[in-house]
Amino acid sequence: MSLANRSLVTIDDLSNGEIEALFSLADEMADSPNKQAVLCQGKIMASLFFEPSTRTRLSFETAMLRLGGQVITAVDVGATSLAKGESIADMAKVVGSYADLIVVRHPWEGAARVVADYAGVPVINAGDGSHEHPTQTLCDLYTIRKERQTIKGLRIALWGDLKHGRTVHSLIYALARFGATILFCSGSGLDMPEHVLRRLGTEYKGELKSCKELNYETEKSLFPLDAIYLTPSSPHQLAMLPDINVQVELKAGVDALYVTRLQKERQTSTVEEGKSEKSYPVVDKKLLKGKVFEKTLVMHPLPRVDELTHEMDADPRSMYFKQAAYGVPVRMALLAILLGAKEVTVDRDKDSFIREIDYPVYKRDSGVKCSNRNCVSNQETEVRYIKPEFRIVSRQLLTLRCIYCDHELYPHYVASSEWHEGRLENKRYHSADSRFARKIRPENLIIFASENEAQAKRFKPSSYVKQ
Ligand code: CP
Repeated sequence: MSLANRSLVTIDDLSNGEIEALFSLADEMADSPNKQAVLCQGKIMASLFFEPSTRTRLSFETAMLRLGGQVITAVDVGATSLAKGESIADMAKVVGSYADLIVVRHPWEGAARVVADYAGVPVINAGDGSHEHPTQTLCDLYTIRKERQTIKGLRIALWGDLKHGRTVHSLIYALARFGATILFCSGSGLDMPEHVLRRLGTEYKGELKSCKELNYETEKSLFPLDAIYLTPSSPHQLAMLPDINVQVELKAGVDALYVTRLQKERQTSTVEEGKSEKSYPVVDKKLLKGKVFEKTLVMHPLPRVDELTHEMDADPRSMYFKQAAYGVPVRMALLAILLGAKEVTVDRDKDSFIREIDYPVYKRDSGVKCSNRNCVSNQETEVRYIKPEFRIVSRQLLTLRCIYCDHELYPHYVASSEWHEGRLENKRYHSADSRFARKIRPENLIIFASENEAQAKRFKPSSYVKQ
């Protein structure tokens, strides 16, 4: 089947079967790189990197050159017309008229989606703020599969800055989809964001257990960190159990330990930064000396700073330079597929699709804005063309998920467009959690950021407004 002209903005844009098919093609690319030299002849890839990169940019560019294609590059916002105030949308339209495919890295969460919405050619997200980095996840999964043949049933610990690390955000969704058990071992103040955890429980059939009571001092502690434990379970449920002792689980060892650096550039306060930096956990030979870690794959998306000691480099368990090297065949396969130069075979009967839940979308012009300051919908100066848009993921406790960055918000006041029928005396707003409000059909829902906004729009409080 052809996956031509698709974009890869989030890891959920590929089904499990499509990922498996891509890996088979990556094997082919790795086995005979010289046979691929004309596959993308005549095609141009635009490589737009508005944040530093070594691996992602250079492996994408190498991949395109190995496929016989050509590359145009912009690596500095200051050297593009974005610096003159051009919108991301206009830039995307223009670059889409020059190139056959765009690879983009941008510091704002959701920026890659905006590029994909406007470019008119396939767009690959090479990292958007703290949001996602789906092609790094493809390299990570490919490495694990090469070493262990499967991902299902493996126990994988994610380590370090789980709050800001975009690589772990894409990776956990994929690991959950492929049936891994995941331990989240975050540094102090660097926990996995709540919205990611909730989504793992509700959409990825994971059961979450948390442990906040580890004794840092005891020598018996295998990992000096709090941890959250995710297991594939069916039927799915979200179970936050604060008293589960994760050491019991860790004693069985882990198949892979995925280390990440402290994302200093994404921290918002110097107090937070100082605290996290001081206590940031380090992975070294001593930590991994136990028999239970004898076969543990030590992974890292790189770049590394001090969190993974150099003595580990010669250790056969260390996979991080392999992960980086696999970037070329994996990205060759992806480019060839999205440019229509290769087709893949996906067994739809055996494939498992995500996005099983088709949430209603809320895109009415209102005062409701994404809660994430770094979301493209809040950052783009020319915001008139980016309308805040949300998936309504729960009505029990009204929960909106931003379509750009996936952050969630919980507005308190709503009204119905149907009930007021243009008559002023019928314009009433209600508490979002009232029984009455939950009956409003999604297409009629009006959501307010505050009571002030509702009243400014001449709505009056109904008896379903909590005082
Ligand atoms: N892993 C990764 O994204 O590396 P770069 O920032 O060097 O591209």
